[in-house]
Amino acid sequence: MPDVTSDRNRQGPEPQDSGAGGGAQPLMRPLAGRSLEAASAQRLQNLSRRLMHAEEEERKRLGRELHDRVGANLSALGMGLELLRKQLPDDAGGPVARRIGDLQDILLDTMAHVRAVLADLRPTALDELGLLPALRHQAGVLTARTGIRFLVAGSEPSPRLAPDCEIAFYRIAQEAWSNASKHSGARSVGLTISQQGSVVSMVIDDDGMGFELAELPAGTPSLGLTTMRERAEAIGAVLEVGTALGAGVSVRLALDRDRPRAGADR
Ligand SMILES: Nc1ncnc2c1ncn2[C@@H]1O[C@H](COP(=O)(O)OP(=O)(O)OP(=O)(O)O)[C@@H](O)[C@H]1O
Ligand SMILES: [Mg+2]
Repeated sequence: MPDVTSDRNRQGPEPQDSGAGGGAQPLMRPLAGRSLEAASAQRLQNLSRRLMHAEEEERKRLGRELHDRVGANLSALGMGLELLRKQLPDDAGGPVARRIGDLQDILLDTMAHVRAVLADLRPTALDELGLLPALRHQAGVLTARTGIRFLVAGSEPSPRLAPDCEIAFYRIAQEAWSNASKHSGARSVGLTISQQGSVVSMVIDDDGMGFELAELPAGTPSLGLTTMRERAEAIGAVLEVGTALGAGVSVRLALDRDRPRAGADR
């Protein structure tokens, strides 16, 4: 007969005995503490996932607004300016024509900015093409913008990851790339996606100056590393950041698709 008394004492007072089935309760007790912990970890993970999901939905909504309202108006402005330019008398080099040309330049510049913001708000390539092509596209944009070589290798997970996992992988890559651009002084940054059995991994390495994780000044208003970790936890994945001064930074994300995750596909 197992001795449940000590556990009983550890667990504090007896619950109110409702009568029926009360005798089975003590045998369940030794598990109660652990299952409470597991349950609150699960609740936190669910909450995180819902927050990330809400953020992505809000981004999509903003993207639609920007595209439909601002984008459409900018296009109308562009057509109007072009019409005006054509209706001018023949003095193409005159002051009015020059002014219209300037306005067209500003408009093109604004449209390019809006397109960049739209792409960041809602990476449509992700929905349409998949994780790897979307990352390759973004790597090309960053290479052109920064002069650092962003390289993407590996293969698309098969079957494709669930949408919330894809977006988490994508956003984590974005933050790691942003950190490499801002802080590392790297010449090249590699990203590899691989799959071994049920585990899908993404590794992002830069050849920059690295940093001492332990020596980040207290109160540093740095959300990037924290948010990466939260995004990983929200999909039940594990994120590790490896770095040392002078030795670059390596961000490793691993998602085990066989690990059960409440309320979601992967
Ligand atoms: N790839 C990297 N190379 C060198 N240092 C890095 C790299 N990634 C992060 N760091 C260091 O770690 C700090 C914390 O990074 P984190 O992404 O959390 O914040 P941040 O980039 O400074 O700000 P935020 O992401 O909130 O805009 C950085 O300020 C930088 O000192
Ligand atoms: Mg950052």
